[in-house]
Order: sequence, then C-alpha cells, then structure tokens
Amino acid sequence: MIDFAGKIALVTGGGAGIGLATCEAFAKAGATVVAIENDAERAAQARRILGEPHLIIDGDVTQQADVDSLAAEIDQRFGGLDILVNNVGDFLNIVKRFEDHSDEDIDRLYAVNMRQLFSVTRAMIPLLRKKGAGTSIISVSSIEAFRGIPINCVYSTFKTGITGFTKSLALDLAPEGIRVNLIAPETTETAQVPISHVIKPDHQDDVKQWIPLGRFGAPDDMANAILFLASPMASWITGTAINIDGGALAASGWYRTAEDKWTNTPVIPTHGLLF
Ligand SMILES: NC(=O)c1ccc[n+]([C@@H]2O[C@H](COP(=O)([O-])OP(=O)(O)OC[C@H]3O[C@@H](n4cnc5c(N)ncnc54)[C@H](O)[C@@H]3O)[C@@H](O)[C@H]2O)c1
Repeated sequence: MIDFAGKIALVTGGGAGIGLATCEAFAKAGATVVAIENDAERAAQARRILGEPHLIIDGDVTQQADVDSLAAEIDQRFGGLDILVNNVGDFLNIVKRFEDHSDEDIDRLYAVNMRQLFSVTRAMIPLLRKKGAGTSIISVSSIEAFRGIPINCVYSTFKTGITGFTKSLALDLAPEGIRVNLIAPETTETAQVPISHVIKPDHQDDVKQWIPLGRFGAPDDMANAILFLASPMASWITGTAINIDGGALAASGWYRTAEDKWTNTPVIPTHGLLF
C-alpha cells in the first residue's frame, strides 16, 4: 500500500466511474481528497461514500468561475495541492463521421476534453508549486489517442492532444520536480461506457477474443495506475503514458478465435461497439 497521508489530491469528475474509484483509492491510501463534480446526485453520492475529511465540490470544470473558486478553496483550506488528476472527459455520445460534426459538436467536445484541462491545470500549477518537488499531474486520456477509432475523430483528436500537452508541460515543470503523466484506458465499465450492457449476456465470455487479458477494464485498474504515477515509486517518471488496456494495443487488430487461435479478421461481427 502506498502511503499518501498528509497529501491533498484533486480529482475532476470524482462522482462516478474512474474518477470516483480514484477518489476512493486515494482516500484509502491516506490522502485528503478534493473532487469537483457537475452532477449533483453523483456529488452527493461521492460525499456519502468518502465522508470526512474529504471535500466534494459541486461545480463544472468547463466554467472558468468554478475552476477559479475551486483553486481558491483548495488554497484557503489546504495551502497547496500535491496531486492533480485531470479525469473529466467525455465523447458526449457524438458518434458520427468527421464531416458531419457541427461547429457546436466540435466546441462541446473541445470544452470537455481539452479546454478545461488547460484551465484546471493552469489554475492548479501555483498550488502544486506551493508544495513543490514531488507533486504531480496525471491526466486521463484514452487508448484511442494511440490508435485510430472510427466515427469518433474529433474526440480522439483532443485525447491525442493530451499526449502533446503532457510531454511539453512535463518539460516546463521538470526543473521544479513537478511530474506530468497520463494514463490511456481501453474500454472500462463506467457510467459513461456501460459496456456490460453493450455485450449481450451470451457473449460475455467472448471478451477474451477482443482483449488479450480476457476482460474489459474496471475503474480500479485505472485508479491503481494513477496512484502509482502520483507516488514516490514513479519519482523518475515524467512526460509519459501508461496504456491500461489488457494488451489491446499490443494486439493491434489481432483477435483470438473461439478455438483459441489468433486471427486478424473479426470474430463476431454482430457484437461489440457497433458504429
Ligand atoms: N470508460 C471508458 O471506457 C474510458 C475509456 C477511455 C478513456 N476514458 C476517459 O476516462 C475519463 C473518465 O471516464 P469515465 O468513463 O469514468 O466517465 P464517467 O462519465 O462515468 O464519469 C465522469 C464523471 O465526471 C463528471 N463530469 C463530466 N463533465 C464534468 C464537468 N464539466 N465538470 C465536472 N464534472 C464533470 C461526470 O458527471 C461523471 O461523474 C474520461 O476522461 C474519459 O474520456 C474512459
């Protein structure tokens, strides 16, 4: 168990999915957790789950005023920040060919996947600086930033942008000992991606045909990697990505058949994420 006693960890979108699992993992490891969440019910649930002394703030990271007051509150209460987890991101159920994206689609995808990452990170750097060397930023990108995804071009473009942001910001902050990394999840069971509802029950056992390690991701898989990256065990790791994908990227289009052989042709064409 990594000990985060005395550390302050901010998780954006901490009310569900990967964000909530990350809040719980940090709390269990001794950190004081601050989360910002724009869904009031989820915020209330996180408050119930986490309890004292953790702080769940109702707010929208795409709104600059909410980001500013979040930074002011953390500064006033804790006098600085040790860990920033940029978890908010969403494909907003926008699944269409690139040329069919409206300006509004592009703006909404930009706001939630990239713009807020800039404003939250920019607001938190002075607070990380107050705690100094050993603090770190971890952003939640996607495995889709490292391979193509059909009919999701704009979303995956912004996720890919997080890679450049992470590498360049890591250089800016390295002289101060502030590390910057990202995780790249493959499909993970959450409120946003309820994958168990997408794969019909009689095909649940077939998941191993798509994901080499035989299952989709769980929010805890992501939380564990985030805690590792935030910990002293990762003290010489900056500007990089951890793919958390059950081997999917390594397989890159290779699938296991029901007969336990490998193929690069689709196994069950009527199941999975059908676009
Ligand atoms: N679940 C997956 O399969 C998967 C795969 C790849 C990447 N990701 C990435 O992981 C991150 C978390 O995804 P998830 O599946 O856990 O999502 P989720 O939607 O289940 O949870 C995200 C939480 O953030 C909150 N939120 C959304 N917009 C917000 C805003 N503007 N301000 C404050 N809170 C906000 C939501 O209400 C929700 O509670 C995202 O960046 C997502 O792109 C997820």
